[in-house]
Amino acid sequence: MCGIVGYVGTENAVDIIISSLKKLEYRGYDSAGITVLNQKLETYKTVGKIADLEKIIPANFTGHIGIGHTRWATHGKPETRNAHPHLSSNIAVVHNGIIENYMKLKEKLISQGYEFLSDTDTEVIAHLLHSTIKNNTQFSLLDAVRHVMNEMEGSYAIAVLYTAEPDHIVLARKDSPLVIGLGNNGFFAASDVTAFLRYTKNAVYVNDKELVLISPTGVEFYNNDGQQIEKKVDIIEWDEEAAEKAGYEHFMLKEIHEQPASIQDTYAGKISELEGRVILDELKMSDDQLKNLQRITIIACGTSWNAGCVGKYLFESLAGIHTDIETASEFRYGDPVLCGQVFTLAITQSGETADTLAAIRSSKAYGCKAAAITNVVGSSITRETDSVLFTRAGPEIGVAATKTFTAQLIILYLMAIHMGTVRGRLTPENARDILVGIKQLPGQVQKVLNNKNIIKECAEHYAKVQDYFFIGRHVNYPVSLEGALKLKEISYIHAEGYAAGELKHGPLALISSETPVVAIATKGHTYEKVLSNIKEVKARGAEVIAIANQSDTEINKYVDMVLRIPDCHELLSPVLSSVVLQLLAYYTAYARGCSIDKPRNLAKSVTVE
Ligand code: AGP
Repeated sequence: MCGIVGYVGTENAVDIIISSLKKLEYRGYDSAGITVLNQKLETYKTVGKIADLEKIIPANFTGHIGIGHTRWATHGKPETRNAHPHLSSNIAVVHNGIIENYMKLKEKLISQGYEFLSDTDTEVIAHLLHSTIKNNTQFSLLDAVRHVMNEMEGSYAIAVLYTAEPDHIVLARKDSPLVIGLGNNGFFAASDVTAFLRYTKNAVYVNDKELVLISPTGVEFYNNDGQQIEKKVDIIEWDEEAAEKAGYEHFMLKEIHEQPASIQDTYAGKISELEGRVILDELKMSDDQLKNLQRITIIACGTSWNAGCVGKYLFESLAGIHTDIETASEFRYGDPVLCGQVFTLAITQSGETADTLAAIRSSKAYGCKAAAITNVVGSSITRETDSVLFTRAGPEIGVAATKTFTAQLIILYLMAIHMGTVRGRLTPENARDILVGIKQLPGQVQKVLNNKNIIKECAEHYAKVQDYFFIGRHVNYPVSLEGALKLKEISYIHAEGYAAGELKHGPLALISSETPVVAIATKGHTYEKVLSNIKEVKARGAEVIAIANQSDTEINKYVDMVLRIPDCHELLSPVLSSVVLQLLAYYTAYARGCSIDKPRNLAKSVTVE
């Protein structure tokens, strides 16, 4: 999730672009750049924040037309050569999104003699536009962009400058946000209105597969057939802070609602449904190495540990590999029994958690092959392991991890399916069933979000309790741990997650009419057992809230409230149940007036031990 901006007008484009980028810095902040068109393209870009970009811009750098970018790396480390804008001779491009088929396009362009200076998918767009115009001399830039849109697979919002057409910017979008601002002294383009709200409140939202041409005299909108179209102008009521949260009251709620997109972005380019196959080149393990794998040791903290615990069940059930889940702060001071046949997997959204970094370093001393799942390209963990698998959830501002958790689950599904098929444990048909189910998750998560009011009512009903219990079995056991952690960290209610079968070995003593119990009772091979655990706590006076599948008509009889998720594959339900639990925690904390994005005593990234 990067931030792109553009400006054409009578003001100094450099000032406008820099201040607009600052407003988009929450979208990504590992490198930035600007190009202004004064007969020729003048570009400045650097690794680091906008403030670092300002430092390298000469005082006399001005112009009336330009584009800019602030980056959240997905392809290519945070380095100046990977910063945008990317150029191809007399064309400059800024891009937010992911070009899934960039490798194939890149090979084609290299065979045409194009040289690539970066590792990004975006540079492909610049060269593709250049080659399209070179091979179709009658094409305008608008024609070329429309042509290239049919070649690109994935998501994009792009802004393009072309010296042969020096007085306008051409933009286009698909699955990435783009909005145009209509000002008195010029016209603006940006990934969201935050960028230009102080200049104008008149905004036009660009839809998928639409193109825009901004010139000093106005803005033209085109559909994908090249026909000019009329667009509605919206008057933005939000102030800048609200806009940063896209109108949500808290970053946590915004990030919960971003999960359909973050899940899709995370599996983008990795699933071949037809073949029932996963493409996971970044794992860097040969089929033989995967076949000979004897054990996996997952190392993590907090929410990432809970994701890793789901991973344990997935690797054992889908790939048949014995898997341990280790708490990093314990692992680093323990005496783990490891050897070269053990594969260690660090899970850390920030990539900077001190305990996880130290633990994975100590595991490598045993000759283990190590990999990491992280959300931050260029983070410290990426330099500690042999391979890195990136979640593509974009920056997560709220301290409580939400979209990065479900994105971690997606990577774990893909790894377990890949290992299972390579090891012959999983047939292509079984793999296809789960892969088809994964591709349905964005839509199913959206359904859960659309029904959030029921979850809000439930949260408000129990908001005053002192203690809360969460129970689940198999993959839902770690989900119950995650539900409890989310509630603890933002509502300050004492909450515990338990393997449902564990209650009668002690915790049942704590159950009473004062302790609501959330039972994760989604369909699967342990469903009946969870039902009996529900009866167990009901018998001790507890009120029970069940998370259950849509088609479950039985569950109502046994519980006080039911929070529904769509029907799905048993192993995929943790993604949907987690969204329910994130909302339950959010609305409980909201009802208790807690500081949701910055809860007391906690930090987003724990860089000390
Ligand atoms: C989760 O909501 C918390 N922010 C915390 O438990 C977090 O998951 C933990 O600190 C691990 O962080 P990491 O994924 O960045 O390593």
